[in-house]
Amino acid sequence: MTEKIKLHLGEVQRTLLIPLWGRAQEYENTHSFLKDKFAREIVAKLDFDFGSFDSIAKRASKQLRLSNALRAYHIDTILKKIIEKYPDLTVVNIGAGLDTTFQRVDNGKIFWYDLDLPDTIALRKQLIPESERNKYISKSFLDITWYQDIQKRSKKVVFVVAGVFPYFKPEQVRDFILSLQHEFPSSEIIFETMGKIIIWLFKLLHRSRKAGENSVVNSIFQGGISSAKIVKKWSDKIEIVDNFSVFTKLNINESFEPTFQIRLMKFFKLYQIVHLKLG
Ligand SMILES: C[S@@+](CC[C@H](N)C(=O)[O-])C[C@H]1O[C@@H](n2cnc3c(N)ncnc32)[C@H](O)[C@@H]1O
Repeated sequence: MTEKIKLHLGEVQRTLLIPLWGRAQEYENTHSFLKDKFAREIVAKLDFDFGSFDSIAKRASKQLRLSNALRAYHIDTILKKIIEKYPDLTVVNIGAGLDTTFQRVDNGKIFWYDLDLPDTIALRKQLIPESERNKYISKSFLDITWYQDIQKRSKKVVFVVAGVFPYFKPEQVRDFILSLQHEFPSSEIIFETMGKIIIWLFKLLHRSRKAGENSVVNSIFQGGISSAKIVKKWSDKIEIVDNFSVFTKLNINESFEPTFQIRLMKFFKLYQIVHLKLG
């Protein structure tokens, strides 16, 4: 048997395990809406007790697991539509973790960059090799020297930022998006917003749990931005293309019964997908 890969990741970097696990779990469902076989293969190769997530998920009902798989589903759907219009699209996946969106949406022509912190990229390289049209950038997204690394800029450039902004302050997110707008004037960006109450709940959960080695609820959330409306105040050139609840299109899975918490999150717009045109 091949030896499993040990993890040497910082606290924020470890959060990549949650969406990875969510996607791998969804693969196992009979009526799966996201067939991410890569996620399942990667999970099997890691020396990590993913069973510890089951207990978190039981307490937080289904939303932790599902919200991550649903986020990936929605991002895939948006990207596939853009790729139909721009078959040679350039995508920069910021805070890529062990995400395999490229593998799920690839049309054989798109060019894709996965950017993350050095230890995450080192792990990523062990599990998912780079390829001709899929290159890795080992930098913080806040270190904007990475703009020079984007050598292949097609007519349309799209940034995907999944599960990253909530770890940063609202003003950091604003400055970053405005900087992207300046450097990549007609680009688009897809990310999620989390309502302030979710951030508050996560912080409470963190304080009330003893952060064990395998705990991932120990990350410090900063909030990111809580609503898409805010971006209109930053620049009148930014257009909100789409903004909907991660839990909107639940009929994609016939067997899925939304929990009370999920209905609440949907009603109060606590976890939204945002798609913007930056100019
Ligand atoms: C919750 S995970 C999301 C991973 C991936 N987007 C997904 O959906 O599976 C957050 C990711 O953001 C990365 N990250 C955190 N701070 C970062 C920074 N300053 N620059 C680049 N990546 C960062 C972490 O290493 C981690 O891979």
